[in-house]
Amino acid sequence: MTNWSARSWRERPIQQQPNYPDKAQLNNVEQQLKMFPPLVFAEEIRALRRQLGQVSQGQGFLLQGGDCAESFADFNAPKIRDTFKVILQMAIVLTFAGSCPVTKVARMAGQYAKPRSSDLETIDGIALPSYRGDIINGPEFTEAARVPDAQRMVQAYHHSAATLNLLRAFAQGGLADLHKVHKWNMSFVAANPLKDKYLQVAEQIQSALKFMEVVGITADTNATIHETQLFTSHEALLLPYEEALTRTDTLTGLPYDCSAHMVWIGERTRQLDHAHVEFMRGIHNPIGVKIGPTTKPDDVIALLDALNPANEPGRMTLITRMGAENLAAALPAIVRKVKSEGRHVVWSSDPMHGNTVKAENGLKTRNFDAIHQELRQFFAVHQAEGTYPGGVHLEMTGEDVTECTGGAYQISEQDLTQRYRTQCDPRLNADQVLELAFLVADSLREARQGRG
Ligand code: PEP
Ligand code: CO
Repeated sequence: MTNWSARSWRERPIQQQPNYPDKAQLNNVEQQLKMFPPLVFAEEIRALRRQLGQVSQGQGFLLQGGDCAESFADFNAPKIRDTFKVILQMAIVLTFAGSCPVTKVARMAGQYAKPRSSDLETIDGIALPSYRGDIINGPEFTEAARVPDAQRMVQAYHHSAATLNLLRAFAQGGLADLHKVHKWNMSFVAANPLKDKYLQVAEQIQSALKFMEVVGITADTNATIHETQLFTSHEALLLPYEEALTRTDTLTGLPYDCSAHMVWIGERTRQLDHAHVEFMRGIHNPIGVKIGPTTKPDDVIALLDALNPANEPGRMTLITRMGAENLAAALPAIVRKVKSEGRHVVWSSDPMHGNTVKAENGLKTRNFDAIHQELRQFFAVHQAEGTYPGGVHLEMTGEDVTECTGGAYQISEQDLTQRYRTQCDPRLNADQVLELAFLVADSLREARQGRG
């Protein structure tokens, strides 16, 4: 890797960074974080990279999801547990439909930094610096809260560590046991019209487990019955934090960003000659790049050249976020170009960020049908181009929120104020996720026909 170091991004132009008023404190925090233990282990990162390599070859599916922005204030076990459960629930539905392994990657344990479309937020004629995520400043609309505070990086590290600890406990301590799939329903999901459909899947799994037990395959002989693997991810936006958690792996001698298993570059910070691409090109994690509707096919190839010059499967996930209205016009040319150049990528769809609208009451929302439509078109384009639709990337929560309109319960714009709790973008609630799971399952089943 020529002229790369964990700090070489500092010589490049950079977008979306806070300007810390206290530089001595910033420096002090960076030194502290460099001494802290890594949050994840390089061998786990390589395991994810291998799994994504399989997905890029059509042998698996990537499910990535969680909060738009995690929050320090709303940090508790039920919240972590319910988001974990809703990811598992969707994964079960997809595994069953696609007859293929589903790689689960949470937007959790580090999703604290947000790019913003405007530097200022104005309410009632008062303009303050925008909220940029709990790792940078506070969401309260006061001058004091909006000052970037480097100490928040230390807090974000500890929150991430505690979240990861609980996720590992849930994944390996029995909550993910396949014998318990029918118990993963949250109480409000129990009233969902799709509950019976879900319970049918759960019953089929129980029958399969009984059969396997008879022939001697049990949790004692096969850990996957009792445990699962959940990887973590976030947008690697705040580079002083990512740099401080980058470590040279002692087994391979290679640098890994040990703040999460997978990290991605957002739509607003993926300029080829800028800092984020520079940082990401040197770390060996699997990385995602968000691809919006104005992206040119040649831009994507240039990014792949910079970030994956050896064209290794599993390294790159292209997360397209076009908007339901733009996808059919924008995606085919990109897919064709990447395919014709023989590049190995996981194609994943983020049907959230291109479909954000303002409700009449001023709240940001997304409509369930638009989200579904973008996903349907994503599958259709890949079907037409002979490429494999390998994943979805969702903003979702296990909580019973009212942030996205539509879905089986027909949440209206007027209903949004009932339980609108997001720190940033509107998330699908557990009912809407279950519904979307079955819809995506149908598309995935079609896409996988003939793949065995
Ligand atoms: C996000 O994933 O929360 C995000 C900001 O996405 P994008 O960069 O695609 O807008
Ligand atoms: Co978002």
